[in-house]
Amino acid sequence: MKLHAFILALGLAAALSAPMALAQQPIVIKFSHVVAPNTPKGKAADYFKQLAEERTRGAVKVEVYPNSQLYKDHEEMEALNVGAVQMLAPSLAKFGPLGVRAFELFDLPYIFPNKETLYRVMDGEIGTRLFSMLEPRGILGLAYWDNGFKQMSANKPLRSVADFKNLKMRVQSSKVLEAQMKALGARPQVMAFSDVYSKLRQGVVDGTENPMSNLYTQKMHEVQKHLTLSDHGYLGYAVIVNKHFWDGLPADIRVTLNKAMADATQYERDIAQKENEESLAAVRRAGTTQIHVLPYKDRILWHQALLPVHKEFEDKIGRDLIQAVYKVAAQVEKEKVGAAKTPAPKDKPGPSPSR
Ligand code: LMR
Repeated sequence: MKLHAFILALGLAAALSAPMALAQQPIVIKFSHVVAPNTPKGKAADYFKQLAEERTRGAVKVEVYPNSQLYKDHEEMEALNVGAVQMLAPSLAKFGPLGVRAFELFDLPYIFPNKETLYRVMDGEIGTRLFSMLEPRGILGLAYWDNGFKQMSANKPLRSVADFKNLKMRVQSSKVLEAQMKALGARPQVMAFSDVYSKLRQGVVDGTENPMSNLYTQKMHEVQKHLTLSDHGYLGYAVIVNKHFWDGLPADIRVTLNKAMADATQYERDIAQKENEESLAAVRRAGTTQIHVLPYKDRILWHQALLPVHKEFEDKIGRDLIQAVYKVAAQVEKEKVGAAKTPAPKDKPGPSPSR
């Protein structure tokens, strides 16, 4: 081989080996979560992995560990803290044990009358303020993900508040959720998500609450004879990372990952409702569980029993935060009423607002 061709070949080999070396040592992000892959959170975690790996051309490898494969609820925060995993998406109910009780705002029964209010809270000043409370604990909040409203299940019908009397109801590690069950007359039992199915089957607990996608994918309907479509509370997630790890990433990679997270978040929110509707349809088809729709008169009574929980937690969560959510809800309602009253542009006299 002539010298010129030899140098060219060497250059080519070097050019080829550089990306290979990079591909051999990608930045690894271990993303652990506790739900099934075929849930809104599970699907969005996989979508984030796909986007992150494609857009960084393999410089980042995201390893997703679903179904508490690596860590259970109470272990995963510690794993993030010590750097055993880099990314989690715990439900917002699971930040209390870290000492950040303000997140329990999201657990207050009936606090979000609709999704518009919820998204404004998450994406606005309140959501930012909550994330800022995580930073002194070495945690960075990247996004809020959605899983819709929760339904109640048990082995007996849950229609009136009196039906809850003395039932052992599994809840997440949130003082608000404990208070919610007590307000209904039930006995709350805090338990890791991964244990719920077996404890329901063994009769250690009588019932639980979750959105349909979690209930169905964990097969809870096989061990719960009754389900009440109550929408009494909300379940969402905070996608969080170890701050030290995230801050240490090359700036361009961080920008790409933030964009991938924004797109995965949009995707997650887009599919959440559909996934829950499909899970409800699947539970109906399974025929193991009687599904009750809460009549308006009973809904009012549930409201009356549960609303005092807001007041009870003013000190722990922050009265100002709770009031701020009410204000957002009132604003959304005002806009809806305004929009309903405003005639469609074609009926308006004069030029349309777009001109
Ligand atoms: C639960 O623990 O009940 C769920 O919130 C789990 C989850 O992450 O959706």
